[in-house]
Amino acid sequence: MSYTVSQLLTQDITFQPIEIKGWVRAFRSNRFIALNDGSTINNIQCVVDFENTNEAILKRITTGAAIHIKGELVESQGKGQKVEIQVSSIEILGDSDPDEYPIQPKKHTLEFLRENAHLRTRTNTFSAVMRLRSTLSFAIHKYFNDNGFYYMHTPIITGSDAEGAGEMFRVSALDPKNPPLNDDGEINYKEDFFGKETNLTVSGQLEAETYAMSLGKVYTFGPTFRAENSNTSRHLAEFWMIEPEVAFMDLAGNMDLAEDFMKSVLSYVLEHNREDLEFLENRLLDEEKTKPQAQRSEMNLIEKIKFVVDNNFKRVSYTEAIDILKNCKPNKKKKFNYIIEEWGADLQSEHERFLVEKHFKCPVILFDYPADIKAFYMRLNEDGKTVRAMDILFPGIGEMVGGSQREERLDVLKEKMKALDIDEEELSWYLDLRKYGTAVHSGFGLGFERLVMFATGMGNIRDVIPYPRTPQNADF
Ligand code: 4AD
Ligand code: MG
Repeated sequence: MSYTVSQLLTQDITFQPIEIKGWVRAFRSNRFIALNDGSTINNIQCVVDFENTNEAILKRITTGAAIHIKGELVESQGKGQKVEIQVSSIEILGDSDPDEYPIQPKKHTLEFLRENAHLRTRTNTFSAVMRLRSTLSFAIHKYFNDNGFYYMHTPIITGSDAEGAGEMFRVSALDPKNPPLNDDGEINYKEDFFGKETNLTVSGQLEAETYAMSLGKVYTFGPTFRAENSNTSRHLAEFWMIEPEVAFMDLAGNMDLAEDFMKSVLSYVLEHNREDLEFLENRLLDEEKTKPQAQRSEMNLIEKIKFVVDNNFKRVSYTEAIDILKNCKPNKKKKFNYIIEEWGADLQSEHERFLVEKHFKCPVILFDYPADIKAFYMRLNEDGKTVRAMDILFPGIGEMVGGSQREERLDVLKEKMKALDIDEEELSWYLDLRKYGTAVHSGFGLGFERLVMFATGMGNIRDVIPYPRTPQNADF
């Protein structure tokens, strides 16, 4: 029978003839193959009877080679594993030249592995990260499915800028060398594929709102594109976003949903990816050892995840946060790059991180931001100057979630759009929701890669997505 490494290590099937296929991680003493097939972080040890194995075959058992093994699963004689395979025959499926194969059985830098992103999931670190990414993704669908949400596929190509930030990638089928021009000498997009200007979506929210206002509870989970030139460890030009949207739910309900959702998916990985988490935790501990004591983190990876699952997020209004920031040491001593002087200031990631990492030491939900620094669709509060927005900030990450209660009053929304010069015609369908059966509704967006960063402890967002797209980089 054919098995995976995971099955061999967890099922009770010793002393049976078995077959397995995988890649050689290491071969030592011409006798012990460490074989991995991606099904688990663990390798299975395959013991070769080298005296009765063809010399030419032994030479081809090199790191990276794909092999097919037949043998018997027995209790292991050596230390480090319970069972091992006593090999009776080996077939080399695909050779791997040991002088050229980049992934040697030694420690590689993350930068080197990024350049070899097509091979990096052959390492323990990246196979663990990507298995966790897959589990988290499943847990997200499971959470919404269990809670009565419908999964909605919002368009990737769109004519609207949901966030109004103008950070979009254009989609066009025009000949860039010879585009049709109108009388003003500008490009005539009426002749383009869609008969108008289009771009890759920055958020599925506006379309999700239309479905929430008929199906009640919906969510999107898809790729999102932003042409912001931020070369940071937390920004991608292409990332995945989860956006639930719920009718008749206000901002307080939105906070409850976001908190429950995040706790649920994180506890799912604690339960289902224990070995991968333990591996990543040890990897971080090794990394920590190279840092000075003061910079080492107080909790290890699994403790950090448990802490989030077991403790309430702190809910703090923007106004309270500004008071804390105005009076904090780094602000007074001018240690921040951006000094907080007055109410209305936009928060930079240094401020967000101060609040979660130094002041509250737990995830924080900031709400009721000044209208001027938030998107047009957010519900204006009775004070006339703040909106029902919320951002969820996480230790080590900063902003993980951005969401709000939506402006449901047609006249207020129209006025806001006018002030921001947003074309009413273009968003007439969005305004229709406020004309026909309008109601309080809310939602949020969670950056999937930032969640994966938190769950894996990886410090750079480029290391939690298979093929990162960042400024000047779209390899693979
Ligand atoms: O705060 P943002 O811009 O919110 C929205 O797009 C809303 N339409 C969501 C909604 O209410 N339905 O983005 C949401 C989240 C951020 O909190 C962050 O986690 C992530 O998306 N994000 C990014 N992740 C990686 N790279 C980028 N360039 C990101 N920009 C935002
Ligand atoms: Mg945001």
